[in-house]
Amino acid sequence: LLNEYEHYMRKEIFDQPKALRDTLAGRLTEDGVELAELAAAWDAGLFARVRKIDIVASGTSYHAGLIGKKALEQLLHFPVAATYSSEFVHEHANLDETNLVILLSQSGETADTLSALREAQKYGCPTIAITNTAGSTISRKADCTLLTKAGPELAVASTKAYTAQIATMLLLAVWTAQRMSSLQPTQVADLLAALRQLPTDVESTLIMIDDAIDQLAQVTYDQESLFLIGRGLDYVLALEGALKLQEIAYIHADAYAAGEMKHGTMALITPGMPVIALATQTGSVFDKTISNIREVKARDAFVVGITTVSDDVLADEVDEVMYIPETHPLLMPVLAAIPLQLLAYYAGTVRGNDVDRPRNLAKSLTVE
Ligand code: M6R
Repeated sequence: LLNEYEHYMRKEIFDQPKALRDTLAGRLTEDGVELAELAAAWDAGLFARVRKIDIVASGTSYHAGLIGKKALEQLLHFPVAATYSSEFVHEHANLDETNLVILLSQSGETADTLSALREAQKYGCPTIAITNTAGSTISRKADCTLLTKAGPELAVASTKAYTAQIATMLLLAVWTAQRMSSLQPTQVADLLAALRQLPTDVESTLIMIDDAIDQLAQVTYDQESLFLIGRGLDYVLALEGALKLQEIAYIHADAYAAGEMKHGTMALITPGMPVIALATQTGSVFDKTISNIREVKARDAFVVGITTVSDDVLADEVDEVMYIPETHPLLMPVLAAIPLQLLAYYAGTVRGNDVDRPRNLAKSLTVE
């Protein structure tokens, strides 16, 4: 099963092009998205009263949900909330049949997410599960299920399931927008083209970045703590990168919205402190991130920038720069996740950790 790979985590990181191809297959059509699994429920009027969307999940699945939130907001112009499953069970307001609740879970068995599903159903909310496990409890109990087709994920770290969840959320956003607001295919032509190209872009990213990240891990693995900063979708990605570094490398990693550092956390920046700066979004987000990078550089942090191949600015601002291919902004978190997954993997292996089964954790969490 491992083939030439030493660990499941590494194999699953490299499985991502196939996981994405399988997840997109048959769903991306000439001019839009077809989700056969949802069509019957839609036609039966299950979603007719929906006016608000709640995305609910735990851990890495929650981070994929945050990207789904941005996609749904952009395409549907609907209020969309994203909440940790463990919080949703206490912290929901005014739930009723106008709230569509989307639950993401790789395993389909996470107790927190299952409780959130029960809670949503108590209030009559229509529910969609996005899971990697056909026949799982969450998938059986939700009104409809969209499967991510990442294949079995055996390492505790969620890698290929995460990127497949993002792709599935984007398919769902386009499909729903097509139906709810009579979206013209031309309005999302760029996004559809980027989705078609995504598995190939992930392959290119793996080739471009693998050795460079291995070398970076050799000089950062012994750090006690580091920061990841970014704005917008780069901030969402920073959250996922921090979780991976904590879980697999046992490094205290914190994610910050880049503009927030100056409101308190900057006091922790000391000379040589590693800061991973994510600058993969374009326009004003990028420009403002550069200003925030200058602020941490001014305190002598060791800054590693991650950006796209088309950027020629970041290299002059940071100590090291890593380039990844460019795609649609909503899909940049898929490509930019790869260096962060690999960094956690390499740092964890250099530190002698059991990267497939990190201490104190389990793949499927069946207690709340
Ligand atoms: O199976 P689920 O997606 O519901 O699991 C949720 C989290 O426990 C999971 O994503 C966890 O955060 C990962 N081990 C992170 O890599």
